[in-house]
Amino acid sequence: MKAAVINQYGQVRDVVRVTDVPVPALGPRDVLIQVHAAGVNPVDHLIVKGFMATGQPAQPQIIGNEIAGVVTAVGDEANRFSVGDQVFARVDPRVGGAFAEYAAVDQSLIATKPSALSYTEAASLPLVALTAWQALTEQADVKAGTRVLIHGGAGGVGSMAVQIAKHLGAEVVATAGGDSVELVRALGADRIVNYKTEKFEQVVSDLDVVFDTIGGETQERSFQVLKPGGTLVSIVPIPDAEAKKAQWGVEARSFLMRPHGEQLTKIAAMTESGHLRPILETVYQLAETADALLKVERGGARGKTVIEVQHTS
Ligand SMILES: NC(=O)c1ccc[n+]([C@@H]2O[C@H](COP(=O)([O-])OP(=O)(O)OC[C@H]3O[C@@H](n4cnc5c(N)ncnc54)[C@H](OP(=O)(O)O)[C@@H]3O)[C@@H](O)[C@H]2O)c1
Repeated sequence: MKAAVINQYGQVRDVVRVTDVPVPALGPRDVLIQVHAAGVNPVDHLIVKGFMATGQPAQPQIIGNEIAGVVTAVGDEANRFSVGDQVFARVDPRVGGAFAEYAAVDQSLIATKPSALSYTEAASLPLVALTAWQALTEQADVKAGTRVLIHGGAGGVGSMAVQIAKHLGAEVVATAGGDSVELVRALGADRIVNYKTEKFEQVVSDLDVVFDTIGGETQERSFQVLKPGGTLVSIVPIPDAEAKKAQWGVEARSFLMRPHGEQLTKIAAMTESGHLRPILETVYQLAETADALLKVERGGARGKTVIEVQHTS
């Protein structure tokens, strides 16, 4: 089968190759998925460069972290899905393997693809929607009436977080820049702060939760807009977290998302009920994997980049 592979860490153009490799072996609880589309995330180019080397599979390594496709075989102990089922998944980060014609995925990580979504749309969801769900419901307790600020509202994670927070009944302020403002408004944010022309700390205060997808000075300035006892949740590191918690009298935690088939089923239900829609920006073909990774590396995302995988037989 064709797959996007790295044999060593390095710059995307130097090390990412689309080449022929064996179809992955099926473990007893695995499902073999014929991949129709795979979402691209910042973590993918970080893996290529070796910045996420901990827990990565041996090389040559098939890269990519989320897929949508059709089940073509099941392991001896895999009983949740059948051949022909249309599914999607955030794959095991220790395995990767999404930018390929086939991927073997533990059945516990998989959910049924929402029937109204194309494979390309469905493949854009798992990593970012699970990240947003876990941030808002596990790391913070966002519910009806919670006042939350979401940074990077037009990005992959932020565009999910705005919609999920609104679905949970929160009052949502989101930051975005330039022409992203209209996109974030359409996602349902109550107030958008154009971070290129406004300072969010001059506009909002006394918030229950800040969801930080940006880090750096955006994160630094976020502590002051929380009410005492509020929570800053970040998906990038928080330097000196303990000192900042003490200084501002708030909670502050950074976390790594994890794959989760059951939560993905809830996310599928949100799309079926019209509360969550995928935001696609650019679509590439498997042969263009390096271009897709470089697009995501450049930043300025308005939703997601997805790689489509064509099958000749
Ligand atoms: N810990 C975890 O489990 C986890 C999970 C997923 C992602 N992540 C990390 O989280 C980060 C975001 O991921 P993503 O997939 O959402 O990235 P993304 O799709 O590239 O989105 C980032 C968004 O932030 C905007 N932005 C940049 N600077 C900003 C600022 N100062 N204020 C407000 N918005 C700003 C960007 O657009 P403009 O530049 O045009 O403004 C873009 O829309 C990445 O670093 C990723 O590696 C971590």
